[in-house]
Amino acid sequence: MTTRRGFLRRSALSGAGGLLGSLPLARAAAPLTRSFAPQRLMNGEALQTQDFNGAGSLRVHAEARRLLTGCAVIPGKLRDDPEYASLVAAQANIVVPENALKWEQLRPAVGLFNFTEADAVVAFAAAHGQRVRGHTLCWHNQLPRWFASTATPENARQLLTEHIQRVAGRYAGRMHSWDVVNEAVDSENGRSDGLRNTPWLALLGDDYIEYAFKTAHAADPQALLTYNDFDIELDTPEQARKRAKILQLVRKLKARGTPIDALGIQSHLGTTEAPAGAGLRSFVRELRRLGLQVFITELDVNDRKADGLVPDRDQAVARVYAQYLGLMLAEPNVTAVLTWGITDRYTWVGNKDPRPDGTPPRPLPFGPDYRPAPAFFAVRDSFDARTLA
Ligand code: XIL
Repeated sequence: MTTRRGFLRRSALSGAGGLLGSLPLARAAAPLTRSFAPQRLMNGEALQTQDFNGAGSLRVHAEARRLLTGCAVIPGKLRDDPEYASLVAAQANIVVPENALKWEQLRPAVGLFNFTEADAVVAFAAAHGQRVRGHTLCWHNQLPRWFASTATPENARQLLTEHIQRVAGRYAGRMHSWDVVNEAVDSENGRSDGLRNTPWLALLGDDYIEYAFKTAHAADPQALLTYNDFDIELDTPEQARKRAKILQLVRKLKARGTPIDALGIQSHLGTTEAPAGAGLRSFVRELRRLGLQVFITELDVNDRKADGLVPDRDQAVARVYAQYLGLMLAEPNVTAVLTWGITDRYTWVGNKDPRPDGTPPRPLPFGPDYRPAPAFFAVRDSFDARTLA
């Protein structure tokens, strides 16, 4: 029998159609002849005459290439900010709750689940023909306050099991994918398996990742199960070591028959780092050989260190988008591109490290005024350049 999971995996890896299933593909993309032309963005008239939220949207351009594209969303803003909600509806064929599916938000008390915000995102997506990613079932950050004083080696497996069953079970059949485990590798801590010292590792031992994937698969056999991590994009020695440890983990999981379908590469980038290159490319290719799709899960470009006025900063950000997506979308197993937010009005960038001049960061495809930034065109052009096998 062909399961949906198997079908999606095969069709994505072969580059054939079918990845988007029942998503509306009717709005055909207008043929795009122009290439990324930054100066165009200085011309308000050109901006107004283009239909960025219709035939010219990221969504339409992605669908023409059978790609998934979308962003992390904030349920409260979907409710209270109609312009934001329309932008998300127009630009995304997949969304992911930025925080609403984390333990901290879902479980105010050990026995109490609050699904209100996550349900709102799933309902919004259904209303707009969008898929949903779940983020995340097992992570060491954003655990509720009660966790540290409640979880013990005796009850931790039960806590995790119950969590995955309740949460993945609730949305079973409605999730495109789940980030089952997030950020579990730390190549620098001296362990030969590269696992990060987290409460989960301490409480459950080193098979907890495999266990989480198996439990998630049982709770939602249709969702594509993803391992998600960060700082694995660049050609630095440290990031190369982290990629190697992640490959080691994925090989082990595969060898043990663990249901893992995809690797999520967060892709929180910056304007002043050396660009991603050969290391990332061979990582993605190795994942393809192992039968995994790759999702770009949290893309944004921090312009904290970019010099100049806003137009210069925007160009620097757009150049990183163009270079990164050019590299990644040349690989057929890279099948989804999600940014961590859609408008610079709502971004986590800058929360920890604001720009020294105090001005707000501009890391996303749309500016704080919801107008497309140069990064939007970089993303769109990178979709157009994607070749279909
Ligand atoms: C971030 C959110 O964007 C913030 O709103 C929150 O305060 C902290 O978490 N890696 C991840 C995401 O996997 O869950 C993080 O999201 C960003 C880094």
